[in-house]
Amino acid sequence: MSKLHPNSQVDNFDLVIFGGDGDLALRKIFPALYYRMEAGQISSYSNIFVFSRRKRTVAEFKANLSQKITEYVPEINTEILKNLLKICHYVLGDALSSAHYSQLKRKLNSTKNDIRVFYYSTPSSIFGNISENLHSNGLIHEQSRVVLEKPLGHDLESSEKINKKTLEHFTEKQIYRIDHYLGKETVQNLMVLRFANNLFESSWNSKYIENIQITVAENIGVGSRGNYYDRYGALLDMVQNHLLQLLCLVAMEPPVSLNADHVRDEKLKVLHSLRVHEKQTIESNVITGQYARGEIDGGPVKSYLEDIDKFDSTTETFVAIKAHVDNWRWAGVPFYLRTGKRLPHRYSEIVINFKNVPHNLFPSKEGMLNNKLIIRLQPEEHLELVQMVKVPGPGGYRYKPISFELDYSGSFENRFPEAYERLLMDVVRGNQTLFMRGDEVNAAWKWTKSITQNWEKINQGKVLYKSGTWGPGDKILDEGHQWHSYKKGNQYVKKVVRIKE
Ligand code: BG6
Repeated sequence: MSKLHPNSQVDNFDLVIFGGDGDLALRKIFPALYYRMEAGQISSYSNIFVFSRRKRTVAEFKANLSQKITEYVPEINTEILKNLLKICHYVLGDALSSAHYSQLKRKLNSTKNDIRVFYYSTPSSIFGNISENLHSNGLIHEQSRVVLEKPLGHDLESSEKINKKTLEHFTEKQIYRIDHYLGKETVQNLMVLRFANNLFESSWNSKYIENIQITVAENIGVGSRGNYYDRYGALLDMVQNHLLQLLCLVAMEPPVSLNADHVRDEKLKVLHSLRVHEKQTIESNVITGQYARGEIDGGPVKSYLEDIDKFDSTTETFVAIKAHVDNWRWAGVPFYLRTGKRLPHRYSEIVINFKNVPHNLFPSKEGMLNNKLIIRLQPEEHLELVQMVKVPGPGGYRYKPISFELDYSGSFENRFPEAYERLLMDVVRGNQTLFMRGDEVNAAWKWTKSITQNWEKINQGKVLYKSGTWGPGDKILDEGHQWHSYKKGNQYVKKVVRIKE
């Protein structure tokens, strides 16, 4: 039986990473494994196999791995790193060739570990081949799990195909589709905020909420990922997965329990309730943009076209969408989503804009601001509740907005684990709650398709935005609505509430 406590040691496991010397593995997966080893969750009886066709000696492999982990883990403990490297093994082979799996087979059969995790960190076009080869070599057994890295295809049809292929050799209970946003501490805190606090839940509906905004802004460009990004763009790279998952967590009904299927059933209902976009109205609901030259942090940056060195690309690097969740709870409440690269700052935020009071009985001429709950997911994790308070002193009822801020990360002494740390340990423990089920992914693709099938019409409205500006998101807002503007600190009187662990 797997141990359930989040910080206790997990059962010994064998992890095979396909694409294990690629960028994602070196930047995210290995640092995550390092931190979990440091936390004492991974024992020295576990094994990590990197399956790769790059010819190199074991010494070269370990030297490169060590250098990369050191690059991504600040203040590394060399003893822990040494222990991690001891359980890492290199297996030379072409993932597409069944004959090349014999060495892996030998190695796996010589360990005593029951839990076997296959991590596909390769293009999804070869997921099917890998499963096939693992199967024909007899490497998949009851205790095997498979982790599928995004993107899971590029449209509904390709995603369904991947699903179908994977299900030929693994059961749904063995499949872990990663969306790393679900592993972020602050994203998980959304569940606690909503379902452990009656205060918010009782007003969490269209009767009290005017609109909801979800912004995931990045100031980086596409960097060295131009080839991939140009085929995907902001909608498929960010909205189809991360932003929709955030929307689900904000909009879903309380699940019956934290059981993986209970949570995923509720998210699925939200995805089913998303209003599909129609050709006639798409332009007022979706706007895209592409970054031009500009300035980030005071320095000049190139345009998207210069970054990818391809001057006829129409791929969007920004998208803003007005979505509707057509169900009893959310009827009439717009959900505004926006994401983009080369925006002025990197931050992710959910803003719940409450409706204003029905009647202003105070004589003050100053406008009364509506309450807002601002949930900053990154880079600083905090909550802010904007409310009106009386300005002290004689002279009648004068009021102003005050923001109560809960400094989430500052309230806890421990470092916040990276998303991949939690997710990897959950795979070993066999907990699927933070992973997407196949029907969820398909439902997300179905809604996304109602946008992509209207690309031509949307692209007519596409604009170039200067790097370092907020992009063209205003166009989709309903009258009287505006994006909550970015604030580094707090624009109102500051009152920080710290809770003690
Ligand atoms: C990835 C996208 O899934 O998420 C990237 O492919 C994006 O384009 C990244 O930069 C953002 O993740 P985070 O955790 O930095 O917000």
